[in-house]
Amino acid sequence: MSNGLLKGKKGIIFGALNDMSIAWKVAERAYEEGAEFTLTNAPIAMRMGEINQLAEKCGNALVIPADATSVEDLTNLFEKSVEALGGKIDFVLHSIGMSPNVRKNKHYTDLNYDWYHKTMDVSAMSLHKTLSTAMKMDAINDWGSVVALTYIAAQRVFPDYNDMADAKSLLESITRSFGYHYGEKSKVRINTISQSPTVTTAGSGVKGFDEFISFSEQMSPLGNASSLDCANYCISMFSDLTKYVTMQNLFHDGGFSNTGVTQNVIEKFTK
Ligand SMILES: NC(=O)c1ccc[n+]([C@@H]2O[C@H](COP(=O)([O-])OP(=O)(O)OC[C@H]3O[C@@H](n4cnc5c(N)ncnc54)[C@H](O)[C@@H]3O)[C@@H](O)[C@H]2O)c1
Repeated sequence: MSNGLLKGKKGIIFGALNDMSIAWKVAERAYEEGAEFTLTNAPIAMRMGEINQLAEKCGNALVIPADATSVEDLTNLFEKSVEALGGKIDFVLHSIGMSPNVRKNKHYTDLNYDWYHKTMDVSAMSLHKTLSTAMKMDAINDWGSVVALTYIAAQRVFPDYNDMADAKSLLESITRSFGYHYGEKSKVRINTISQSPTVTTAGSGVKGFDEFISFSEQMSPLGNASSLDCANYCISMFSDLTKYVTMQNLFHDGGFSNTGVTQNVIEKFTK
């Protein structure tokens, strides 16, 4: 289904690792809606090669490796993207998350601080670096739209989300602060979308994820939002239909964030 919502728009999509990735779905939908874009991921993730299949499906999109913690890589990414797409960028998807503490089962009360720093750098500061690089190069068009993906653990405690919760809080704060400055400078808008738990490589790395996904399903009046629906929301945020939305954390979670309890969950406690 295409409504030509992104016709003539140029973008950069971070984070498509495999066909379960939210970024993968965003790329497929952006292509359907008429956008042209480059794809990027960390050099180490490229070795798996799946991103090239996505690139082929998206009109032979150029794939540019970039570690999102490296300003040098990000500068090269924006330079090459502007050159390949023949003009400045209209939209950016930041779909990046990684915590060595989560991967190595370090408890939140006993973090490895070098890893904690890495979690912050990869999962949050990378957004600041991306925006700062783009701003210095004047690489994003006026009214451009940047979306980063986040999770409700930034506001409420989900114990096994570990130090990623702190990273998401920082990510959402950068979104507000940079959204102010980039908005004033050239009307660039910056938002986070707070997505339901979704089965992906990053998602499944969190302890107890399967149980948690069913809990969240039962606690949301509409049920969990799928990655395809998340992609559709991203497309609407990249389009001109949402021009005055900026500096927001937008929940895309079937109502989970505003639900205290549901009938389904109550019934589980009724004897
Ligand atoms: N899956 C969920 O339940 C869920 C829920 C809410 C928000 N999110 C967020 O959505 C985003 C995408 O995650 P996903 O669930 O699609 O999983 P995913 O594993 O498919 O994507 C994570 C991506 O981050 C990339 N990445 C890691 N380190 C990087 C680096 N140094 N430089 C550049 N890229 C790097 C990985 O290569 C991967 O492509 C993340 O920010 C995640 O926290 C996921």
